[in-house]
Amino acid sequence: MTRRRTPMEAALVRRAISGSSVSRVVAPSDREALAILLFAAYRGTIDDEGDSFADALVEIEKTFRGDYGRFLPECSFVVEDDEFLASACLVTFFEPHAAPLVVFLMTRPEAKRRGLARHLLERSMNALLDAGYERLTLVVTDGNEPAQSLYRSLGFTPIEVALARSNDSA
Ligand SMILES: CC(C)(COP(=O)(O)OP(=O)(O)OC[C@H]1O[C@@H](n2cnc3c(N)ncnc32)[C@H](O)[C@@H]1OP(=O)(O)O)[C@@H](O)C(=O)NCCC(=O)NCCS
Repeated sequence: MTRRRTPMEAALVRRAISGSSVSRVVAPSDREALAILLFAAYRGTIDDEGDSFADALVEIEKTFRGDYGRFLPECSFVVEDDEFLASACLVTFFEPHAAPLVVFLMTRPEAKRRGLARHLLERSMNALLDAGYERLTLVVTDGNEPAQSLYRSLGFTPIEVALARSNDSA
């Protein structure tokens, strides 16, 4: 069954960063750890398509090389947990939205509900504002309640139909 995915956007405003997590900008050397995180975070969720670890690695490589829009590493953040990553927010500039796009926001299962995703998304939003962007977009699967709830609380609302159509044809 194909699930409906809803593009959303939020105007960027300066935000107080919540929580006391220690985060840093993403680095090229994080690619394998990001794939491990991607594989673990989406497993068993509404967006789980049965992808393998190799598929996850391909997704991360595609993100870094710009297949989902020019990668913005300076606006993409991670939280480390020993040799692994506990959470990450990866952002590109997505031409069809004429704005930055959250390509991946993900938290390891055992680290969920500790405020990590909120912290990272807030850091990305402030970094994007500092870089001169005015809004941030993302696409969420209908029924992804954890993500929808987080996005609503940060002011994301569905994108106008005309813009969503141009995204569909991208
Ligand atoms: C969505 C996801 C990134 C949230 O990560 P997280 O680090 O657990 O999120 P946080 O702890 O920062 O929670 C922030 C808010 O999200 C919402 N939220 C998170 N988990 C939730 C859940 N299980 N049910 C309902 N709301 C939830 C809440 O509004 C929460 O705020 P609160 O704790 O103050 O109530 C995580 O569940 C995940 O990795 N999911 C799989 C990947 C995915 O779907 N990514 C988004 C794709 S668009």
